[in-house]
Amino acid sequence: MGRFDDQVAIVTGGATGIGYGIAKRLGAEGARVAIVDNDVSLAEPAASEIGARGTPTELIIGDVAETETAERAAQQALDAWGRIDILVNNAGIGGVNGAIWELSVDELDRVYRTNLRGVYSFTHTVVPYMLERHYGRIVNIASIAGKEGNPRMVPYSATKAAVIGLTKSVGKELAKTGIRVNCVTPAVVQTRILDEFTPEQVDYMVERIPLGRTGEIAEIAALVAWLASEECSFSTGAVFDISGGRATY
Ligand SMILES: NC(=O)c1ccc[n+]([C@@H]2O[C@H](COP(=O)([O-])OP(=O)(O)OC[C@H]3O[C@@H](n4cnc5c(N)ncnc54)[C@H](O)[C@@H]3O)[C@@H](O)[C@H]2O)c1
Repeated sequence: MGRFDDQVAIVTGGATGIGYGIAKRLGAEGARVAIVDNDVSLAEPAASEIGARGTPTELIIGDVAETETAERAAQQALDAWGRIDILVNNAGIGGVNGAIWELSVDELDRVYRTNLRGVYSFTHTVVPYMLERHYGRIVNIASIAGKEGNPRMVPYSATKAAVIGLTKSVGKELAKTGIRVNCVTPAVVQTRILDEFTPEQVDYMVERIPLGRTGEIAEIAALVAWLASEECSFSTGAVFDISGGRATY
């Protein structure tokens, strides 16, 4: 018996990195998993690999910022399995490093579209289906940057702070229902997203981790799996730190 037997999870950005690790973990514990990603070359092998492990898998190719992607993902999951229990809003981009006076305003829009609009759109679309069944777990992947505000990462830090705010708001909106909404704030994890940053920027972030190492994808996935489970019953609108000790609150 797995923790997620019979349950259905949607994981955005599930083609690689943290999202792929989360999709594998939920699948290993019995969930059926719909992966949403805009990178078909990564998403197809990722979905095949998870399917080959015995996890029923659906793949939705699309940009999370487009509202039709969320509608298509929800419909595909419902057509395949008739329910949605878990939504993990994981898709995110890092953005260009630079001071606010060096970065364009369009760069904020670009980062915002994936990092905040995508989370809003998927949550907006999926919550009504969860309400129908009086059950749901939503886990948003924010960042320590959203708590601390990393310099030369204003669009990223600001949109991740907004994900924290969204989590708190929606958690309260749904507090009297069977739906729990929480977010996690990882520090640095070795994934492709780091390719977007300069080596100096990565050093800045890693040096601030008291544990003296980067986080592992499996460590993030373990926390997300608990937040996605029925055992997470008395926490909602909350921010779960996973920063190797960097966070002071
Ligand atoms: N790696 C870190 O150090 C770190 C730290 C804190 C938070 N995070 C957050 O964790 C999440 C996952 O990041 P990661 O490190 O695994 O990065 P990653 O680049 O390895 O994976 C991100 C995935 O999201 C997909 N994606 C990006 N934009 C998308 C869009 N508009 N629509 C659909 N799919 C899209 C990518 O194709 C990719 O599969 C992000 O939200 C990121 O901000 C990462």
